[in-house]
Amino acid sequence: MKYFTTVHDVNNVNDLVQDALNIKQNPYAFSEIGKNKTLGLIFMNPSLRTRLSTQKAGMNLGMNVMVMNIDKEGWALELEDGAVMNGNTVEHIKDAAAVMGQYCDIIGIRCFPSLKNKEEDYSEKVLLKFMENCGVPIVSLESATLHPLQSLADLMTIKEQWSENRKPKVVLTWAPHIKALPQAVANSFSEWMGKAAVDFIITHPEGYELCEDYTKGATIYHNQDEALKNADFIYVKNWSTYTDYGKVMNTDKSWMLTHEKLKRTNNAKVMHCLPVRRNIELSDEILDGKNSLVIEQAANRLFAAQAVLKKILEK
Ligand code: CP
Repeated sequence: MKYFTTVHDVNNVNDLVQDALNIKQNPYAFSEIGKNKTLGLIFMNPSLRTRLSTQKAGMNLGMNVMVMNIDKEGWALELEDGAVMNGNTVEHIKDAAAVMGQYCDIIGIRCFPSLKNKEEDYSEKVLLKFMENCGVPIVSLESATLHPLQSLADLMTIKEQWSENRKPKVVLTWAPHIKALPQAVANSFSEWMGKAAVDFIITHPEGYELCEDYTKGATIYHNQDEALKNADFIYVKNWSTYTDYGKVMNTDKSWMLTHEKLKRTNNAKVMHCLPVRRNIELSDEILDGKNSLVIEQAANRLFAAQAVLKKILEK
């Protein structure tokens, strides 16, 4: 594996999930594999879980790890090819990427969307510029459209929580939020669920349809109560509108998950990638209750990142 930016970069999703679960049992089993190798983690946006878990994953594999908040600590980057750089940008992204590739054996990069221009965001301009110019393997730490390390940890969490001899019913539900958020976590979760042995349902208000490239095979409901019936896992996430791009068109509080709503499920486990706005996106009673898996998901981010870095180092 040279790139980890989408589920399509993974040959066998089940094997990768199993690798991550095995690493969880013995996190230091491969502590020599990254010796004398350097992992560079580049952030254009804030992060808690991705930053710390991927940094620790590299260290557990024996790697040296460098972190740069390039939005605050680097020169202002120019993204346009052929630009006459007589404005605010100081360094072209292709020069920055090529230089970082000289110092790193693997680069992880976080580059959120602007949520202003759908075509530009969905073209993954920043991620592609790094892939084209840095010359080393790239791991997405959440791009404009996808968050594969989160989804791998999520699938791992579902697998380790599920012991029945049938496919679990997994429901991705939209939740209210006061700000416009990217679609990346929802797109990515949908993409990975499409490769997993689950019955996958998405529920959201009308107007919040995700990009169909990621939701093929999912059943979509606009009625949340219907969607939640007999659910085994509920993944709660807000996203801004994709069709009428990057807008908050609905703040209906009735979409927030509560204990009352859990009654119609199969005592569903509740998931969220975090950070979460309590009592806006998800209620305290759910987050602090016995059905919540949010801390387990966050814990699994470490082993997901370790499995991915190990696979790249083996190559
Ligand atoms: N879930 C997640 O990616 O968290 P951070 O944004 O804090 O990294």
